[in-house]
Amino acid sequence: MVNKHSITAKAHPNIAFIKYWGNQDNSLRLPSNGSISMNLANLNTVTTAAISQGSDHDSLELNGIQQSGPVLVRVQQYMDQFRNIFIKHEHLDIKSTNDFPISAGIASSASAFAALSTAAANIYDLDLTQNEISALARLGSGSACRSIPTGFTEWKTGNTHEDSYAVSIAPENHWNLWDCIAVIQSSPKDVSSTQGHNLANSSPLQYARIKDAARRLDICRNAILNKDFETLAEIIELDSNMMHAVMMTSKPTILYWQPTSIAIMQEVRQMRKNGIAAAYTLDAGSNVHVICNGNDIQKIEDLLVGIAGVNKIIKSPVGSGASVVSLT
Ligand code: PMV
Repeated sequence: MVNKHSITAKAHPNIAFIKYWGNQDNSLRLPSNGSISMNLANLNTVTTAAISQGSDHDSLELNGIQQSGPVLVRVQQYMDQFRNIFIKHEHLDIKSTNDFPISAGIASSASAFAALSTAAANIYDLDLTQNEISALARLGSGSACRSIPTGFTEWKTGNTHEDSYAVSIAPENHWNLWDCIAVIQSSPKDVSSTQGHNLANSSPLQYARIKDAARRLDICRNAILNKDFETLAEIIELDSNMMHAVMMTSKPTILYWQPTSIAIMQEVRQMRKNGIAAAYTLDAGSNVHVICNGNDIQKIEDLLVGIAGVNKIIKSPVGSGASVVSLT
């Protein structure tokens, strides 16, 4: 056993092509349906965990600021759940940085819990498989399990903590797809995804969305494996629209779209008519992720920056899974 003082792990957020929305089990975050996503190489969360010397609680520094509110409580509850599984007692000092806006429809909680579970598994000297770390990441934020394996990943629902994790369906160099994110809002969103999952079943449309999920997953997985952009574009736009239809019809209603989001969706449809390989998808926020072929990225960026209300563009190709970057 190597005596480690701290472990630094890195993870990327991911963008879902087939979305996770709603749980069969809220405390274990066992999802109502499977999901597929791609990791985003240019966006990074880097997290260092060290065993706390004599402290009876975990501490968290996020982007240089010591946390004390709900963000800290969420991480502490996660670490308690983590430690209970492995009967560990030492608390952690955690330092994490993100190089992209948090809580704005760019899945910062996914990369946060993917990096934290990877760092924690290593600082506690647990000899875990990638599937086991993915399942642990899921307990912090469902979509985080998809940031553990590399490239394009699929999370199968599973029925227990142990069998609900994500696997890679294609490596990052499989297809030169990019996510061109049109950032409208960089501030935290009004309704968190954790709150949103709890509301999903209150929509009369959720049942139909879940019932049709296996079909959409098959189409999406095959489109990725066959590098069939036209089919991918249709299925990811349908899936995003279906999730937002559930959000809009839940009680209370959640409406993430802004006028600028709709203007971008219309522009993306026009781009496709003009022969540009682009498709839109939105997570729990107003920002629009434009999934596109790497060859078209400049054209797409030029068109997006011309839309009123677009503040910034963040571009990323497909990324790797979570990894340990240093050990001291
Ligand atoms: O992992 P959570 O609880 O932040 O939920 C993610 C929900 C969506 O981003 C809207 C969809 C998804 O599959 O990533």
